[in-house]
Amino acid sequence: MRDEDFIVSKTDEKGRISYCNRIFMEFAGYTESELLGSQHNIVRHPDMPRAVFRFMWETLQSGQEFFGYVKNMASDGSFYWVFANVTPTRNARGEIVGYFSVRRKPRTDAVALIAPLYAEMLAREQAAGAKQAIDASRPLLEEQFQSKGVSYEEFILAL
Ligand SMILES: Cc1cc2nc3c(=O)[nH]c(=O)nc-3n(C[C@H](O)[C@H](O)[C@H](O)COP(=O)(O)O)c2cc1C
Repeated sequence: MRDEDFIVSKTDEKGRISYCNRIFMEFAGYTESELLGSQHNIVRHPDMPRAVFRFMWETLQSGQEFFGYVKNMASDGSFYWVFANVTPTRNARGEIVGYFSVRRKPRTDAVALIAPLYAEMLAREQAAGAKQAIDASRPLLEEQFQSKGVSYEEFILAL
């Protein structure tokens, strides 16, 4: 990503894309009509551990915003790292009706710290098999911030 870029998307409450900006289309390599209505995992990269997304959904469904480093895959199989912020969107009654995400270029040194952690988490998930994957890898992520006595968000923002 370039320094001035923001990748923006909105989804419904099930994670189906309802809006994407031009920079999203450029990096993901899909047209607007291919993206609208698709599940957001259309850009999921197989190197991403499942536990990160589980953590993201739990955070969002509890009404909080989520920050994270994500490796995404474009339609041609290439990858791009982002630093993402995802927030719940609420209706007038305060119910969550969708989600909104803005991503910017991540710092190279932060990616260099998070990539080996994700690789270790992924290896644990693959060794454990699909059913046990998240239980197997989640403790690795939690150790990172619990050992420092900080929250996940504090850990990520300090990278
Ligand atoms: C607003 C929003 C933005 C998202 N952005 C991404 C993203 O950039 N990359 C990604 O892999 N998943 C993203 N997700 C999560 C996906 O919906 C999905 O949970 C994830 O890709 C894991 O795919 P899976 O559930 O098929 O394993 C986003 C979800 C929401 C609600």
